[in-house]
Amino acid sequence: MAYLLGIDVGTSGAKTILCDEKGGIAAEAVAEYPVYAPKPGWSEQDPADWWKGVAASVGKALKLGKVKGSAVAGIGLSGQMHGSVFLDKSGQVIRKALLWNDQRTGRECDEIVKRAGGLPKLLKMVANPAFTGFTAPKILWLRNNEKKNFDRVRKVLLPKDYIRYLLTGEYATEVSDASGTLLLDVAKRAWSKELLSKLQLDPDILPPVFESQVVSGVVNAEAARALGVPAGTPVAGGGGDQAMGAVGNGVVRKGVVSSMLGTSGVVFAYTDKMETDPRGRIHTFCHAVPGVWHMMSCMLSAGGMLQWFRDVLCREEIAEAGRRKVDPYAIMDAMAAGAPLGAEGLYCLPYLTGERTPHADPYARGCFIGLTPRHDKALMIRAAIEGITFGMRDSLDIMRGMGVKASEIRLSGGGAKSAFWSQLHADVYGVDCCFTNSSAGSAYGAMIMGGVGAGVWKSVPQACDAVIKTVRRVKKNPKAVREYERVYKPFGALYESLKGNFREIAKVNGLL
Ligand code: XUL
Repeated sequence: MAYLLGIDVGTSGAKTILCDEKGGIAAEAVAEYPVYAPKPGWSEQDPADWWKGVAASVGKALKLGKVKGSAVAGIGLSGQMHGSVFLDKSGQVIRKALLWNDQRTGRECDEIVKRAGGLPKLLKMVANPAFTGFTAPKILWLRNNEKKNFDRVRKVLLPKDYIRYLLTGEYATEVSDASGTLLLDVAKRAWSKELLSKLQLDPDILPPVFESQVVSGVVNAEAARALGVPAGTPVAGGGGDQAMGAVGNGVVRKGVVSSMLGTSGVVFAYTDKMETDPRGRIHTFCHAVPGVWHMMSCMLSAGGMLQWFRDVLCREEIAEAGRRKVDPYAIMDAMAAGAPLGAEGLYCLPYLTGERTPHADPYARGCFIGLTPRHDKALMIRAAIEGITFGMRDSLDIMRGMGVKASEIRLSGGGAKSAFWSQLHADVYGVDCCFTNSSAGSAYGAMIMGGVGAGVWKSVPQACDAVIKTVRRVKKNPKAVREYERVYKPFGALYESLKGNFREIAKVNGLL
C-alpha cells in the first residue's frame, strides 16, 4: 500500500497527516514552534523552526502510523499565507520572516496604491487591495527600513515554498498562495509584470508560479535523510492554507461555501467566474483547481478573540476546567448558551489585532459596547461569540451581493467543535450548515494535492468526490434567524462610527 503525506506549515506549528491511497487517515502529528512579536503589531517566525517542525511532525506521523518512510508515494504542501522569507544569493535566510498577521506595513500599503495609480488600477492589476498582511508591502517595508537586508535579497518565498525549497532544491510557488502576495495577476494566473515594474521590484526575486496540482520538484537526497522518505518522491504545488482547507472540505464545486473558525475566521466561496469587489473588501484569489477562483474573507481575530477572553478573563473557568478535566472553552460555551440571544444589547467588535476583511484597518481595536450593570461574564462571552459571527456575516453578505449563492455552508476549524456556535452560525447566516467527514483541515487538502500530483487521483474535484462526504447537518432555526436579523443590524454601523477614533488612538500611541 502506498501512502501520501500532507504537510501544513501553520502559525502555531507544523502539522503532518499521513493517509492511505483511499484518503483514510493513518496518523496525524503536530510540532509546535514560537511566534516572535519584537514590537507591537509585529509578528515574525524563524523559517529554520518551520523546517525543524516539518521534519519532527513527519517523523512522528510515520512512527504513529507504523508506516515505513519508503511507502510514501507523494507529498503535498499547505502553509500560512502571505509570509515573506527573504533569501540571499546562496539561498540563506536573511532575517526572520514577517507573517500574515504582521501590521507594520500601513505606510507601504499607501505607497503601493499610490505607485499603482489608485485603487481601481491596483484591483485591475492584481484583483486585491493592499492589505498590511500581504507580501508585497513587506518587501517594500524591507526596502524602506532595512536597506542593507533588502540589497541582499535574491528570492522572496512564501512559507510553504521555503519548505519546498528545502525538500526539493527548487524555487517554485503555485497560484493560490501567490494570489496573496499582491504581485499575481489573478485573472491571468501569472506574475503581474505591470505592478512589479511600478513598484520597481526585480521580477527575478519571485519563483516560477505553477498551477497548484503540478509537481514542481522531487525530494532530494538531503531532505530524504532528514525526513525519512524516499529521494525522488514527487512534491505537488499544494496551496495556501485557506485554499487547502477548502480542498480538504470539498469546496471545489459551484455553490459550495465554507466557514472556518480558527484563530482567524474565514468565509470561502468557490467561483468559476473571476469577480472583484470594487471596494476591495474581500479577497479574490486563484483556487487550487485549474481555471477557477475563490472569494475569501479573513477576520484576523475570530477564535483569537475568544482565546484572549479565556486567557485574560476566565482564570476561574480555566481552573474549574482543570478540576473537571474538560476544555475551558466547553465551560465558556455553556455559559454563553445559557445567556439570552443578543446579550441584552451588548455588542463586541472583535478587532483585537486590527482587521483585514471587510474593514482593511490595522488600527481597529477590540471593544465591548453597551455594557450595563446587568452584564456578567456569560453575557460578555455571548456578545463576543455573536460579534465574531456577525463579523463573518459582514463578509458573507458582500459575497452574496457579488452573486454567491450559499445554499448550505460547510463548517470547520476549532470553533466548529461547539454545537452552540455551529447553531449560532446557521442562525446568523440564515443558512443551513453542515460538516463533512474531513476534520483534518489544510493538511488534508495538501494530502489530496499530493495524491493528485502522484497520480492517485486524476483531478482535485475527483479526489474530493472520492474521499469527502457530508456527515451532519445543522438546520437554521427560523425564529432565531429573525431575531438575529434585528440584532445584527446595528453591528456594521459601530465600526463606521469608531473608525476615526481608532486612528486618533493610534496617533496617541505613536502608531500613526
Ligand atoms: C489568509 C490568512 C490566514 C493565514 C494563516 O489570508 O491570512 O489564514 O494564512 O493561517
